[in-house]
Amino acid sequence: MSARLDGRTALVTGSTTGLGRAMADAMAAAGAHVVLTGRSKEVGERAVAELREAGHTADYVAADLAEGRPAALRLADEAESLLGGRVDILVNNAGIVPVGPTADLDEELYDRAWTVNVKSAFFLTARLAPAMAARGAGVIINTGSIVVRHGFVGSALYSATKAAIESLTMSWAAEFGPSGVRVNAIAPGFVATETSPSERLVGAMTTAPAGRPGRVEEIGPLAVYLAGDDAAYVHGASFVLDGGWTTARR
Ligand SMILES: NC(=O)c1ccc[n+]([C@@H]2O[C@H](COP(=O)([O-])OP(=O)(O)OC[C@H]3O[C@@H](n4cnc5c(N)ncnc54)[C@H](OP(=O)(O)O)[C@@H]3O)[C@@H](O)[C@H]2O)c1
Repeated sequence: MSARLDGRTALVTGSTTGLGRAMADAMAAAGAHVVLTGRSKEVGERAVAELREAGHTADYVAADLAEGRPAALRLADEAESLLGGRVDILVNNAGIVPVGPTADLDEELYDRAWTVNVKSAFFLTARLAPAMAARGAGVIINTGSIVVRHGFVGSALYSATKAAIESLTMSWAAEFGPSGVRVNAIAPGFVATETSPSERLVGAMTTAPAGRPGRVEEIGPLAVYLAGDDAAYVHGASFVLDGGWTTARR
């Protein structure tokens, strides 16, 4: 991969594992100084050690984004300080996947899903985007999902949070885009990860034109593209990364 993010700094939430880790890896490999974050210190520090061993620049900050706005602000402060006072790229990726019949999901899980999936992204963006706008440059990438475009049994709560994230992408593109901050989303299909959707849903991706579920590492190049100057004209878009499943089936 050509180094297109040299000198840039990035905070990727939910980057200790899965899709977030893949985006953090790809951005670090493209030359960015990346802050990884998640609750598990052990997993986060191991990920940073692996990146450093590969010659990349990375740090870890522990954060439990279920704690809401204070946790998001603490994370932004610590990341900004580790990144030399500037976050150029914010990836709002941390997410949990509550599934089950609507009538079975309790209020605690409802609140947790909105806090981790939406509220943390909202207040991280509120804290970091104005500084990007003041500098006249910055990138925000939100992780959406194909569940915004297709109804799945048992996914009502999760899908609603992802619809909110993709909606925020458009609103923030309008709000911050004129100041040079590009805001876009990546909407992956089902990919096998730590908290993967069921094998049944991942397996359903075989009916996509691509004929298989996505691989975690396939999100990295798209994230690097969106973060880099090649995407200078890309604002407010949601990129569906699902082997074509949403629009066509075998
Ligand atoms: N996999 C898929 O098929 C798929 C499809 C579409 C969209 N997505 C979205 O992609 C994103 C990443 O999912 P993934 O599949 O890669 O899942 P994953 O492997 O479980 O990764 C989730 C990440 O979020 C972190 N996280 C979870 N709860 C957190 C909390 N309370 N505070 C801070 N960090 C927290 C986890 O770290 P810790 O556990 O250490 O906290 C981990 O780094 C999510 O937004 C998900 O909705 C996934």
